[in-house]
Amino acid sequence: MPGLSSSLGIVLCWLCLVLPHSAGASSGPPNMVFVLADDLGFNDVGFHGSEIRTPNLDSLSAQGVRLEGYYTQPLCTPSRSQLLSGRYQIHTGLQHQIIWPCQPHCLPLDEKLLPELLKEAGYITHMVGKWHLGMYRKECLPTRRGFDSYFGYLTGGEDYYSHQRCYENKTLNISRCALDLRDGEAAATAYLNKYSTHLFTERAVDLIANHQIEKPLFLYLAYQSVHAPLEVPEPYAQPYAFIKDKNRRLYAGMVSALDEAVGNVTDALKKKGIWDNTVFIFSTDNGGQTLSGGNNWPLRGRKWTLWEGGVRGVGFVTSSLLKQKGIASKELIHISDWLPTLVHLAGGSTNGTKPLDGFDVWKTISEGSPSPRVELLHNIDPLFVDSFPCSTNNKTEKWSYNLTAPHWGHPSFNTSIHAAIRYKKWKLLTGYPGCSRWFPPPSLGSDFAAPNSENKTLWLFNIEDDPEERNDLSQNYPDVVEILLSRLEHYYKDSVPIDYPDDDPKCDPGPSGVWGPWE
Ligand SMILES: *[C@@H]1O[C@H](CO)[C@@H](O)[C@H](O)[C@H]1NC(C)=O
Ligand SMILES: *[C@@H]1O[C@H](CO)[C@@H](O)[C@H](O)[C@H]1NC(C)=O
Ligand SMILES: *[C@@H]1O[C@H](CO)[C@@H](O)[C@H](O)[C@H]1NC(C)=O
Ligand SMILES: *[C@@H]1O[C@H](CO)[C@@H](O)[C@H](O)[C@H]1NC(C)=O
Ligand SMILES: *[C@@H]1O[C@H](CO)[C@@H](O)[C@H](O)[C@H]1NC(C)=O
Ligand SMILES: *[C@@H]1O[C@H](CO)[C@@H](O)[C@H](O)[C@H]1NC(C)=O
Ligand SMILES: *[C@@H]1O[C@H](CO)[C@@H](O)[C@H](O)[C@H]1NC(C)=O
Ligand SMILES: *[C@@H]1O[C@H](CO)[C@@H](O)[C@H](O)[C@H]1NC(C)=O
Repeated sequence: MPGLSSSLGIVLCWLCLVLPHSAGASSGPPNMVFVLADDLGFNDVGFHGSEIRTPNLDSLSAQGVRLEGYYTQPLCTPSRSQLLSGRYQIHTGLQHQIIWPCQPHCLPLDEKLLPELLKEAGYITHMVGKWHLGMYRKECLPTRRGFDSYFGYLTGGEDYYSHQRCYENKTLNISRCALDLRDGEAAATAYLNKYSTHLFTERAVDLIANHQIEKPLFLYLAYQSVHAPLEVPEPYAQPYAFIKDKNRRLYAGMVSALDEAVGNVTDALKKKGIWDNTVFIFSTDNGGQTLSGGNNWPLRGRKWTLWEGGVRGVGFVTSSLLKQKGIASKELIHISDWLPTLVHLAGGSTNGTKPLDGFDVWKTISEGSPSPRVELLHNIDPLFVDSFPCSTNNKTEKWSYNLTAPHWGHPSFNTSIHAAIRYKKWKLLTGYPGCSRWFPPPSLGSDFAAPNSENKTLWLFNIEDDPEERNDLSQNYPDVVEILLSRLEHYYKDSVPIDYPDDDPKCDPGPSGVWGPWE
């Protein structure tokens, strides 16, 4: 009946013209605030039993859905690239490490990003904080990739007060400390000695207060906290005098400042009257760095590794739009899932992206339905090295393979390659996954290794029963091993080449310059 459906269409269209399209009311597309913490570990929030107190994160997550089967990537650039593109690193060339300040490189410009899609769906898009997706050309900057406004720093880490980034390349005779802070695309020189957690919170609160509620808001707030260097105003660390380990004590203070910041941001949303139509997401970008105060106990490994301590993420969603609340979801969810999830929630379309690796997981979070994601490629990086000291007495782990032994007898995948994959409860790791020890919080004892683990190249774990990765089952389930190896090989064949360019001497901003585009 074409007549009926077209007149229905006219009625619906008329309705959408006359209904006020206000994001302030509890109708219309929701506002979205995505808070990304940097290097926050699994054992660094109160609701995971940490000695660090996070009252705001605890109570917000208790009102929403705690994501207890949530995964990120083990490093900054990789996680951020997947968050904004919805695609695995094997599809963007970013498999290896991070983007360093002097690399002429950025998240490929032919990727259509989350903020662009939300803008197309009618959103105002703001970003505050750490970018770390490349900046050698102006086209790479957040303001050119879908954000209406930007305030923050472009590289991976810096001083919390001076906002200076130091970088050295002896081969190129570069040894430079220079400002890395921008307001839009201009250098922001007026914020010396202002602690970045306060600075970014102030900007976020301003943006919320001045938001024109006729349009929905997307705010991506990527804090510097709690990445090294260990810096925090003394009052935040003071309540942790009981922690003997100095790094852990300062780190705890940094987490407290972050927790206070999150409280301020949610207060601003409430004050503005838009909290009831806001989806608030909190996520870390990777596991904690045990060399810099972070902790992932009882999980194995840490940042920069494919062990659970590197990739199991702290995360939660809070919103009155959730159908279930006060829940801990164990469903498999990955940082690449936010793009399709948020774009659909916005009523937008993912049209124009390349094939996505992420899934729309809104029904899983909101209603508790099973996750559409049953498999997760953690990464494949044939160039992987981990040169940081592994144990606390500064020893690197000795891992040595016979690289001429083809595939170690497995027909399907070269198990010397650093890789890991998850399928339902199973997780398979190959090659050297990165620092393989367990790190209790300093007050509970020192780190320890698995017996007879040296030089191994293959592990299979049942993560549901053994999230601490203590019992390798690869000998017990050879069929599962071969199936997962063939999945790895499938992804390996589907990879684009690693793009990890040499440093470019033109990056040097000079003695009075600012890190930023040089091409
Ligand atoms: C390295 O840079 C410093 C400072 O810019 C300069 O004084 C020195 O001559 C340079 N050395 C070489 C080998 O180019
Ligand atoms: C939160 O807001 C209070 C009150 O304005 C302020 O004193 C505090 O510094 C803010 N905290 C952060 C982390 O921005
Ligand atoms: C997708 O984008 C293309 C090119 O921009 C456009 O022609 C097409 O109509 C769009 N499709 C949808 C469903 O929006
Ligand atoms: C480990 O190395 C760091 C930096 O190189 C140094 O500050 C620290 O004292 C060393 N720790 C031990 C136990 O040797
Ligand atoms: C690991 O390999 C190295 C170098 O081949 C060797 O020296 C060491 O004994 C091996 N360790 C074990 C436990 O086999
Ligand atoms: C390494 O593997 C190759 C091929 O299997 C073998 O010929 C060689 O003896 C091995 N080398 C060592 C040191 O075990
Ligand atoms: C297996 O992978 C390792 C690490 O990338 C590489 O060095 C080695 O050459 C590969 N071996 C074969 C037989 O392809
Ligand atoms: C320094 O730059 C050279 C030339 O681009 C590059 O090959 C090298 O890897 C860089 N060193 C570091 C430590 O990044």
